[in-house]
Amino acid sequence: MPKDTIFQLESFRQATPYIYAHRGKTFVLYINDALLAKESTASLIHDLALVHTLGVKLVLVLGLRTFIDKKLGKQPASAFKNDWRITDAKTLNAIKEIAGSVKTNIEALFSIGLINTPMSGMKLNVVSGNYVRAKPVGVRSGVDYQHTGEVRSIAADEIQKQLDANNIVLMLPLGYSKTGDIFNLTSLEVAKHAACALQSEKLILMLDKFIAPGKKKQSDNHYNVNEAKELVKNLPKSKQQVKGYLDVAVQACLENVKRVHLLDASKPGALLEELYTLDGVATLVTAETYDEIRPATINDIGGITELIQPLIDKGALVPRTREQLELEIESFDVIERDGMVLACGALHIFAEEHAAEVACLAVHPEYQSNGRGSKMLSHLEKKSADAELNLLFVLTTQTSHWFREHGFKTTKIESLPMKKRAIYNYQRNSKAYSKAV
Ligand SMILES: CC(C)(COP(=O)(O)OP(=O)(O)OC[C@H]1O[C@@H](n2cnc3c(N)ncnc32)[C@H](O)[C@@H]1OP(=O)(O)O)[C@@H](O)C(=O)NCCC(=O)NCCS
Repeated sequence: MPKDTIFQLESFRQATPYIYAHRGKTFVLYINDALLAKESTASLIHDLALVHTLGVKLVLVLGLRTFIDKKLGKQPASAFKNDWRITDAKTLNAIKEIAGSVKTNIEALFSIGLINTPMSGMKLNVVSGNYVRAKPVGVRSGVDYQHTGEVRSIAADEIQKQLDANNIVLMLPLGYSKTGDIFNLTSLEVAKHAACALQSEKLILMLDKFIAPGKKKQSDNHYNVNEAKELVKNLPKSKQQVKGYLDVAVQACLENVKRVHLLDASKPGALLEELYTLDGVATLVTAETYDEIRPATINDIGGITELIQPLIDKGALVPRTREQLELEIESFDVIERDGMVLACGALHIFAEEHAAEVACLAVHPEYQSNGRGSKMLSHLEKKSADAELNLLFVLTTQTSHWFREHGFKTTKIESLPMKKRAIYNYQRNSKAYSKAV
């Protein structure tokens, strides 16, 4: 089979579980103005159409700032206060015109559909409406913000009806009051409120550029809410824009949005890569803690076997059959991501000697050197301390230095618990190390 075909089949295998997992879920996508102003918008809309046909319910919130700035020309500094545009009647009229024009262009791009594919005949319905109730920002510190407003509520039920009817919902940064007034809002705020009101599975911030501060590797660009909050606190003033995005992500997660993706969508296909591959390409802020250690269950046996078999073959780990794993599963803990076991470790307790063995500690090769091994070991140490044990030991052939760096000292086989000595494999010739807990 040609290499290209093998690659395509492998990609399809990897994508399929994600297609299944995302089907029927609601995603709110904020598309920033700079991205919409690029020539690549057509291919972005094509990818969105594809995601929609794969069963995802899409709500798109469009950013307009670049278009407004262009239309109004150079504005004096007094036209802004606290990063809010002061919207006078003339500015509001310009914004209404721009909103109409950007919306129409996006509708036109969706009308092209999935051209050059077997699904080219499929009609994609895009709808918009008065879904945002707004209130005026009013007068603050003596500044009258006029037609600049804040989101008051989102007509989530109405939007939901449209999504259930298989329509794509477009939202603009305009809101309406009960008095019939129109307000200029921030798209990012509209997106956040929409995601919260719809309790959407994901809020995706599609940005023309985004570099996550602080992390070393793409596979490590995940923050839980608390980590993201800490990060925001420590960001310098020069990172104001990144701070704004992370702030929105934190607020959304605190209001029940499960995951917020901060995606540099300037690269072709970034959205598809983010949604349909294991690691994705975005920076992720999650409501639940990502990569948390949890006790293993019988359902993890397949994942653990996949993780440890190559290490068994290399002689780094003692062989274990599936049956053995089934018997021992309660002594295992795992770190899992989207169903894939990234790390595992077991604690075998020798109650009489108040000791425990660290066994089968392993981290998937692609996820090593990111602290997961240390995190798992600390977890097993804490578990031993909680169980009022005094000593941890390990038998290893290839990882002695790693354990020594984690405070383990060489020990004699004769000082191990009796039951362990009885089954010690002299041929394997593992070295023993121990640590007081
Ligand atoms: C040992 C292991 C669990 C560490 O996992 P990890 O997630 O990479 O660990 P951490 O990120 O906490 O630590 C990484 C550091 O340990 C070092 N390290 C990894 N394996 C090592 C080894 N065998 N000997 C010495 N140092 C080692 C790495 O080089 C890295 O150092 P650096 O940060 O200075 O580059 C992982 O390498 C593994 O699965 N090894 C194969 C299985 C095994 O031998 N298990 C122990 C049997 S009980």
